[in-house]
Amino acid sequence: MSRLVYVLNGPNLNLLGKRQPHIYGHETLADVEAACRALAAEIGLALRFHQSNREYEIIDWIHEARETASGLVINPAAFTHTSVAILDALNTFEGPILEVHISNVHKREAFRHHSYVSTVASGVIAGFGTQGYLLALQRIARLLEEGAGGHG
Ligand code: DQA
Repeated sequence: MSRLVYVLNGPNLNLLGKRQPHIYGHETLADVEAACRALAAEIGLALRFHQSNREYEIIDWIHEARETASGLVINPAAFTHTSVAILDALNTFEGPILEVHISNVHKREAFRHHSYVSTVASGVIAGFGTQGYLLALQRIARLLEEGAGGHG
């Protein structure tokens, strides 16, 4: 089984570090990517790390991951709460999917409490800051070791 994991990030996460730092912290997405790559190297995962403000691009990466990757970590950002199209794409992915939110969405506005993506995710991490990405990668590694097929 491949050890390739996609880490996908949705809209506005390119502004991480500058955008509402009281909510999302001071680390940039490049910092998050570097931390993910360091951990992945340590635990023997290969990574593709992407961010887009365009829904179709995220869908295309999920389609690409279907062909090549064993696991997927996704912070769909605002698309979490709106995108049936991303949910449909994720439903075509056979390996474990972990949903990450930097902030605790449940402590925030009611419209952030519903996630389309959670209905397909093996697990959800919210409110752990950017550490959530690292925890998600560790979990994916464990699930792959356990040979988890499907959405876990
Ligand atoms: C977010 C939470 C979403 O509600 C929001 O739209 C984001 C980021 C998070 O990481 O906490 O853009 O996914």
